[in-house]
Amino acid sequence: MEMKSRIQEKYKTIFGEDAQLFMSAGRINLIGEHTDYNGGFVFPGAIDKGIMAEVGVNGTEKVKAFSLDYDEYVEFGLDEEDKPDQAWARYIFGVCRETIKRGGKVEGFNTVFAGDVPLGAGLSSSAALESTFAYALNYIFKNGIDKFELAKIGQSDEHNYCGVNCGIMDQFASIFGKKGNLIRLNCKTLEYKYFPFDPKGYRLVLLDTCVKHELASSAYNKRRASCENACRAIQKNHPEVEFLSDANRAWLEEVRGQIPEEDFLRAEYVLGEYQRVLDVCDALEREDYETVGELMYQTHFGLSRLYEVSCEELDFLNKLARKLDVTGSRVMGGGFGGCTINLVRDELYEPFIKEAKVRFAEKFGHEPKVYDVVISDGAHLVTD
Ligand code: GLA
Repeated sequence: MEMKSRIQEKYKTIFGEDAQLFMSAGRINLIGEHTDYNGGFVFPGAIDKGIMAEVGVNGTEKVKAFSLDYDEYVEFGLDEEDKPDQAWARYIFGVCRETIKRGGKVEGFNTVFAGDVPLGAGLSSSAALESTFAYALNYIFKNGIDKFELAKIGQSDEHNYCGVNCGIMDQFASIFGKKGNLIRLNCKTLEYKYFPFDPKGYRLVLLDTCVKHELASSAYNKRRASCENACRAIQKNHPEVEFLSDANRAWLEEVRGQIPEEDFLRAEYVLGEYQRVLDVCDALEREDYETVGELMYQTHFGLSRLYEVSCEELDFLNKLARKLDVTGSRVMGGGFGGCTINLVRDELYEPFIKEAKVRFAEKFGHEPKVYDVVISDGAHLVTD
């Protein structure tokens, strides 16, 4: 049975009525990784995999939530001390709390939800969950919170209730996503621009290593701390620098001896990636996809060697893509496992996927999963 019908059937069984359906999406990112919290650019788009939730006001002071994927029912209140134990419920609780902190009204509601974003694949299943509920609560309680603030509700949820000091990219893409379009966001000014993305003769495909590293969130926070440390050192000489991305290579060199070498390498990657996003935009305007792909390989190199968020399985897929003459390939998202994103010429698609499955399985004992990228809409009310 399709996801929507399963949700509706369960909602009716538990709560004895129907309510409204909301949906939000996971995301891909063409380029611009670990740049969001450094005031740089990102270039994401929402995908056709997401979270769907039926949500209705229940006239009590409790949230009554059922997760179809975990087959689990949880009830919780809306005060700070009511934080539930289950990780999935904590995401929803955090959205409620962050909405309330912004002056929004949230009262008791019922919900049943499910998703088809693969977990731990770097496709932002958590942002999809946060955005679905941020959007839904804003809608049913008529709070009139603007879209950027809805994205920030999800981001603050991660910071304050889930322990990840993430940037704004995932929640932004999940809320602002538009079918057929990638979005370039300047994470410093929050200016953004939609770019229709339909590269004739090429396909975007994700290869999921199915590797999920245990310490990914603490390692992520550590990368962010390194960048902030480098930024603070540069600020002493150049007070006009607000984010690391405001600095240039020469200013970073000035502080090389004053910060740990590791922090220097992280910052070196970030400054390179800042420029690469702009170069990709130029190349896209010329429809020069071979250059886009080359820049993706450069990003992979930086993420693997300087930022150190890759892993053996991801490097293996990247190297294989290069060997098979795939146009572009790189680790996508936070890293430490998950997917590579690959820009592949149409005629190479079949042989590449076939070879990647065989070679990867020979080495690691299982095939990577394959997801074709379909760029889709972000958060919305489901009406059909
Ligand atoms: C995760 C975070 C984002 C971003 C990416 C890396 O997905 O949630 O904010 O930092 O990693 O680009």
